[in-house]
Order: sequence, then C-alpha cells, then structure tokens
Amino acid sequence: PQVQRHQFVIQETPVKRLCKTQNSITVNGMLPGPTLEVRNGDTLEIEVVNKVRYNATIHWHGVRQIRTGWADGPEFVTQCPIRPGGSYTYRFTIQGQEGTLWWHAHSSWLRATVYGVIIIRPREGEAYPFPKPKLETAIVLGEWWNANPIDVVREATRTGAAPNNSDAYTINGQPGDLYKCSSQDTTIVPIDAGETNLLRVVNAAMNQPLFFTVANHKFTVVGADASYVKPFTTSVIMLGPGQTTDVLVKGDQPPARYYMAARINGPKPIMPPLPAYNDTNTVTAFSQSFRSLRKAEVPTDIDENLFITVGLGLNNCPPNFPSSRCQGPNGTRFTASMNNVSFMLPQNFSLLQAHQQGIPGVFTTDFPGTPPVQFDYTGNVSQTLYQPVPGTKLYKLKYGSRVQIVLQDTSIVTPENHPIHLHGYDFYIIAEGFGNFDPKTDTSKFNLEDPSLRNTAAVPVNGWAVIRFVADNPGVWIMHCHLDVHITWGLAMAFLVENGVGELQTLQAPPSDLPIC
Ligand code: C2O
Repeated sequence: PQVQRHQFVIQETPVKRLCKTQNSITVNGMLPGPTLEVRNGDTLEIEVVNKVRYNATIHWHGVRQIRTGWADGPEFVTQCPIRPGGSYTYRFTIQGQEGTLWWHAHSSWLRATVYGVIIIRPREGEAYPFPKPKLETAIVLGEWWNANPIDVVREATRTGAAPNNSDAYTINGQPGDLYKCSSQDTTIVPIDAGETNLLRVVNAAMNQPLFFTVANHKFTVVGADASYVKPFTTSVIMLGPGQTTDVLVKGDQPPARYYMAARINGPKPIMPPLPAYNDTNTVTAFSQSFRSLRKAEVPTDIDENLFITVGLGLNNCPPNFPSSRCQGPNGTRFTASMNNVSFMLPQNFSLLQAHQQGIPGVFTTDFPGTPPVQFDYTGNVSQTLYQPVPGTKLYKLKYGSRVQIVLQDTSIVTPENHPIHLHGYDFYIIAEGFGNFDPKTDTSKFNLEDPSLRNTAAVPVNGWAVIRFVADNPGVWIMHCHLDVHITWGLAMAFLVENGVGELQTLQAPPSDLPIC
C-alpha cells in the first residue's frame, strides 16, 4: 500500500457553458475536479486550500473512514468549515473497498461544481473479479446552472419556495451537443472495438435521479458504491444522486459514434430511448437486480430496530414573517424531515467535536427511533402532518450494535424517490417495496443471503427500503437524502456511535489542523 499526497485548491475559475462564461468554484481549475486513482489499502493525504469567499469542506463520499471520522467532511457534523483563506489536510485509508466512489464539497450547494471521481483498484497483484477491461473511463453525471448555485439555494431559503431547476444536465462537466453553444464540447468516451470496456458511472447531480444508457449497447453491471455485484445485463441503469455503478460494455457494434444519454425527461428523437421519468417499473426491476458478489455478512439478529420516515413538509408561515418569505404552496415554506424532525446543523461547533469534548447544548440524543404518529404513507394524510419540528437530534448507538432501519417515504407533499446516504458505513439493502411497510408480512421479503452493499439506498416512490449494518465505526455520522434541495430543507439525522473497547474500536484523536469554528 502507498501513501498518496495531493493538493486541492478551491478557487474561482472562469467556465464557459451554454453560450456564456461565468466564474465557477472549482478544484484546481477543473470541472469535474481531479480524479483520484488509488488501490485498496492506500492512504490519502489531501491538503484542501480554500481560496474562495465561501466556507468549504470536502466529503469523500462512500469512503468508510474507519476511526478517521475527522476526515469525513460534512460541515458542522465532523468539522467546522474551512474558512476563506484556510486549509485542512484530510488523512484516511481505503479499507476493503474496490470500485468507484467520488468526492464532493459538503457545504451549502458548493458541490454543484466541486466534485470528482475516486477510482479504487484492487491491491497490487490482485485482479478484478471480471475480465480485465481494455479501457476504463469514469463518467460523472452532473447539473449546470446559469447562475451561482449558492445564490440559487440562498434565494430559495429566503423565500421558502423550491429552488430553480438547473439549466442543463452534464456528462463529465459538459452539457453535450443537444444544448446550445455546446457542440464542440461534447464528452466523447472511447470504446475499444471488440474489447471489453469498463465505465465507472457516478451520479453527481444535485437534485435528480438519472437514467443512463449508450445507444445500441448493453451493459453488464459489475459493481456499485465500491462493492462488487453478481454481474447482470441491462440496457439502461438508474442512479440516484450519490450512487455509483460500474458497467462493462463490449465494443460489438460497427465503429461509429453512439450517443450516451443521461436525462430524466425522456428521449429526444436522435437519442437512445430512455424510460420515462416516472417509469417506476424499470427502476424497481433494476434496483432488485443487485446481488452481492462477495459473501454477504448481514447481521441476522438485530439490536436496534428503527423505523424512519423520509419526506417533505410545508411549514405554515410564522406570524412575524412577511409573505415574501413564505412563497411555497398556499403561502407556506417548504421543509423536510426524518420522523418529523427537520435537521438543523449547529453553528459554533461540529457535532463530532461537541461529542468528543463533551460540550453541552450543541445537540440532543433523543432522535425518535419510530415516527411520532403512524399514518397512511401513500399520500392521503391530514395537513397537520405537514409541519415538522426543527431540531439537532442524534440517535446513539453502542459500538457493535446490529442495526436495522426501515426507511419509509411519507409521500407528503409529493411522492419521491429519496436517495438516502449514510456516512461512515456501507449497509445491506435487504428489501424494498411499495406502500406502507408491514412488519408482519414484509419480513418474508428480506434477503439475508446476497443483498448488495451500498452507501446510498434509493427509497422507492411511495414505498420503503430496509437496510442493515453493524455500528463498528465510532463517531458522528450523518444520514441524509442526497437530493440537495431536501438536505437544505432538513431531510437528515445523525448517528452518534460510541467507542468500543481498546484502540481499534476508538475514534482517533483529531488532527492538529482541524478547522474549529
Ligand atoms: Cu455524498 Cu453527505 O454526501
């Protein structure tokens, strides 16, 4: 194993997209940012230098950060932000993960342009569990705003309304030739004729689950979220924001250019056919095809059985608010919650620092393990349920506890597919389904044999997913919807995992350059 050192300079860079040049926040002047290429077992030391006028942090999405929670990155969770002019060196080791992950800013909406790929290859001398690909290419799906994304979210927060949609979807930072002024900049990916090629696909979009396909070609899915899966064939893949999927593509078509497409709103005539944006059947069939390749170590008994609702809400306009600040539906403000708690970040300490130093008053540990009221989660609910309560509530877990979580879409305001991401862990998705989760009958659907190991679970529209993991990584770990608009509204909570016994079960000491508030 090696130690790799990098410097990431967060800086303003003029970027030309969709006919105009605007200053964007990039890492090292690149969009997407630099790709990290490592092997399982390697250690990374990345000095992040903040040269912009905003606070910034970087999160290494999906990296387990075993005992190195200080390097995880979400602002006010595991660190205070790196202030303008400041820097921080993230140090962590890749342990047991292989495939594709990614990194992104974890501060306001900075991640719209601050993101890149992490490629994790097997250890020296070890091979992929599939035929060695001739070419390997990373493909990052993203979104582009003809505006500063931070202004977009600030405006939405001020008015309580939904933020503007992006102006383009991008592949490796480029909108592609179906958008105006973009014909020269289409991303072209080489596929070797007659050979097997590996595409590492990342959904870095802010707010959209995306279908992805290549015209006339089929994919063999071999991995997701840096875990191998039993290979299966499909012509289209679906990724929620945060998810990654590794696919093999055979160059078995006549040499030519074939469109890659990643759009949610259905096909344009010359593009390869994509399922309709609301095609739940394709999504379900696809997500149920994932099976772990390596032996799954699913806990069969559980110590913690949580039921967590995920959904939006609409807060009534507070009496002292002008109507300009309540421009959601019927004069409300958009909000979101887990178990009716709308997550608020602290301002003066990070949660991890407050926990480690025993600073009182920063958070409470009374996050409810079940919803305060049971209701019909398929959409027909009373208005009173639209009013989550803000709070900074954590759920405490003993080291080593075996955790099951039923994640249930509430369908309040609108039924949506929520990509729920847990920091610090991979978890098994042991079942998913539609309607209200029923503990009497739905347990028969549990797959404890070969479920896939993920860091982001797509909770189906109007449905539920059940995940399991062992709480063997001490620290404070946020779990949130990876649609950034939903995080903005509070669709998050955090776990506080206590230290176990001995050094190997204890969070390391904080680095000396850890930003404090
Ligand atoms: Cu990729 Cu907390 O996020």
